Formats: sequence, structure tokens, C-alpha cells
Amino acid sequence: MELFEIVGGNRLKGAIEINGAKNSALPIMAASILVDGETVLRNVPDLADVRQMQVLLSRLGVKAQRDAEGALHLRVEDEMNAHAEYELVSKMRASVCVMGPLLAKRKRAQVSMPGGCAIGSRPIDLHIQGLRALGADFELVNGDVLLRAKKLKGADIFLGGPFGSSVTATANVMMTATLVEGRTVIASAACEPEITDLAEFLNACGARILGHGTPEITVEGVDGLTGTEHTVVADRIEAGTYMIAGAITNGDVELQGARLEHMQAVVDRLRRVGVIIERGEKGITVSSSRHLEPIDVTTQPYPGFPTDLQAQLMALLCLADGNSVITEKIFPDRFLHVGELNRMGAHLRKEGPTVIIEGVKRLVGAQLMASDLRASAALILAGLIAKGTTRIHRIYHIDRGYQHIEKKLAAVGANIRRLNE
Ligand code: EPU
Repeated sequence: MELFEIVGGNRLKGAIEINGAKNSALPIMAASILVDGETVLRNVPDLADVRQMQVLLSRLGVKAQRDAEGALHLRVEDEMNAHAEYELVSKMRASVCVMGPLLAKRKRAQVSMPGGCAIGSRPIDLHIQGLRALGADFELVNGDVLLRAKKLKGADIFLGGPFGSSVTATANVMMTATLVEGRTVIASAACEPEITDLAEFLNACGARILGHGTPEITVEGVDGLTGTEHTVVADRIEAGTYMIAGAITNGDVELQGARLEHMQAVVDRLRRVGVIIERGEKGITVSSSRHLEPIDVTTQPYPGFPTDLQAQLMALLCLADGNSVITEKIFPDRFLHVGELNRMGAHLRKEGPTVIIEGVKRLVGAQLMASDLRASAALILAGLIAKGTTRIHRIYHIDRGYQHIEKKLAAVGANIRRLNE
């Protein structure tokens, strides 16, 4: 197994290229199941999760290949199989995004029920509720969700859950509704930029979707979708992670290709901490002074502060001059990084879905265990500024969502190496 070794203390300076968003690329790849002809996707990051989605799609009869320029070409070659098995779904939750497209195009979707994961319990009741409202019959068969329909029909669907909207449930229902007779109106739809990107891709294929980016999405069903070319939107979570890397090292970085308009809550909170964030020529520039103000943050669905940057922000606030409070309103158990940060000398106290962060003067290097994708990113950020050497084990988590993170950080001055255990 591989690990990262980081010697903390270097100031980051220079430009970092931001990739296409993982959470946009994965549902768009799944949407290729709906399309007749070839789908060409540009700016698809080279990540373990993307390769995993390619494996799943190939089992489902979709040929997926990169060309010499890195564009991903997808084409349905065989529509017989509609079963996403446990072995694949258990490795990546985003596999659930094939459910809607399979149901819409093949009239049957059998998808292993994803379990909980390191960030907590993650039900899919809203996905099933939405697809049933479109006319699918639902059964649980040997731990698989089995959805079948002779004919689907547009409907009014409310997709709000106990924690607000659901990103991938909105994606599943919206994708299905593109090929369903009549009008579907999704209320309490997710507004994330990745949903907007998916809708723009589907519209370019011939779908008729309106209202994406707002909580009410309307889809007029069409008879078929045809292939198109699409460039995946910039990854706001990758950009936010490097923004915090710049801030925590008192650095000066430019995030090339990052979209400020998708990061307003993050920018607002970081500016309150004292980070200087400006629109740059090629993206966003970030610089920081040594002094960090404490703040209160609550994670919320977009446009609120994203849960996918909660752990990284916590690493920064460990060094603020006073007490900060982070409340997690999307995944109340997403705090596996708390114990690891405390091992580096942080003063964090968890009380239910809230963590109280008493700022300390410095963090110290330690042996750490990565537990999930974003928690791992937070440990790297802490390692960049910690005194001495930090070793982070089980880094396969980070390769799921950050393309060459150690190379990008080293190129702007970090002392980070990938080693074998
Ligand atoms: N929820 C339900 N029922 C459902 C679905 C969701 O109660 O049927 C709850 C969840 O338990 C959670 C909340 O609704 O409390 C929101 O979850 P959501 O469904 O929006 O999450 P997701 O679609 O499974 C996506 C991202 C996650 C990101 C969340 C929240 C993808 C592939 N994944 O997950 O990304 O944290 O939205 O923004 O888009 C990551 O990239 O590290 C990651 C975990």
C-alpha cells in the first residue's frame, strides 16, 4: 500500500490547474446509457472513481475509452444487462447513478443497495421514491434494488429529505424523466453546479430540461437522445481544497480554471477567516496572512457551504486565533478526521453534529490514517503546515477524488512524496 510523507512548513506559491469535477463526470458518464450514438466528454479527471465507473459501464454494455487528447468516448454497444452488482456498487456509491438511466432506457434496473460508508448512513429512499412516482415497480431482491416498468409517465415529484435535497437522487430522476412521456416537475431538487452540468449535457443531447440550478426542475420527455460533446465543469471541491492549501501555508496560489461563482459560500467564509481571494486572469488567486480569525460554519446544500469541504476547513480553523464552530447538516457523522487532527495537536471537541475548534499555535507531524476522501485531503492540508514529518496511510481514498494531488502540491513548493509502505 502507498502512503504520503509530508514535511510541513513550506509556503505554497504558483499556479495549480483545476480538473473537471468528479461529481459531475460520474453522473454524466452514467447518462451515456440513455444516449444513441457517441458521447464525447472532455475535462474528465483521471481518478480511481472514474476508472471504476468505466468498469461498471463496460459490464452494462457501454464501451468507454480515452483518446490521445484524454477525451472520454462512450457508446452503448449492448443493452442486454441492467444489473449493477454488489462487487462494483460497494466500491463506489456513485454507481447508484446508473439506476435512472437503466430504468429509462432498458425498462429495468437492478442495482445492489449501497450500504452506509465512512461518512455515515447513506439511504437511497429518495431515489426509489422518485422513480416509483414515474411509474416503476420496486422490489428488494437479495440485497438488490429491482425497478421495472412497462411504461413510465411524467409526474410531480417532491425530492426533499430530512437533510434537504439529494444530489444523486435529483440526477437519477432528472435523467429518467428525459425519456418519459409527459412532463415531470421535481420540487426540492438539488441546485448543485454538478446537476446544472448534467442538465446542460442532457439538453445538448436533445433533452428538454428547464429550471436546473433552481429547486424546481421541469423535464418534458422526448423520444430519444443523441450523442454530443461536452466539457465537464471545473471541480469546486478540488479548487476549495487547494484554496485552503494556499491559506494554511500562508501562500500565494492561482487556481487556474476554477469558477468563483460556484464557490461563493466558501469564499465568504474564507474571507472572514482573513484569506484574500480575488478573481484572477485564469481563475482565482488566493493569498493569506499569518493571522486567521475564528468563524462559525454550517454545511448546507448548495449554495451553502459544502459538506465536501468541511474537513479541509476544519484543518485550517485548527490554527485560528480563537474558537470556531463547525456544524455538519448533511452528513452528521462525517467527522472521522477529528481524532486524527487531535493526534497532530489540534484541540477539537465533538458534540453531536458539531465540532468546537479551539485554535492552537501549531500542529505537529504524526502517523495518520486516511478514512475517506475528504478527510484524507484535510490531513494532507494539516501536514503541509505541521512541524516535522507527517505520514498518511491508506491514501487510496484520496486517489478516488484528487488527480495527482502530490504532484500538484509539490509543483507549488510542498514537500510531499508518495512512498510504498
Ligand atoms: N439522503 C436521504 N435519502 C436519499 C438520499 C440522500 O435521506 O435517498 C440524505 C443523505 O443521507 C444526506 C443528504 O440526503 O444526509 C444529502 O445526500 P445526497 O443524496 O445529496 O448525497 P449523494 O448524492 O449521495 C453527493 C456527492 C457527495 C456529496 C453529497 C452532498 C456524488 C457522486 N456524491 O452524494 O460527494 O458529499 O452529494 O453534497 O455526487 C465526495 O465527493 O466526497 C462525496 C461524498
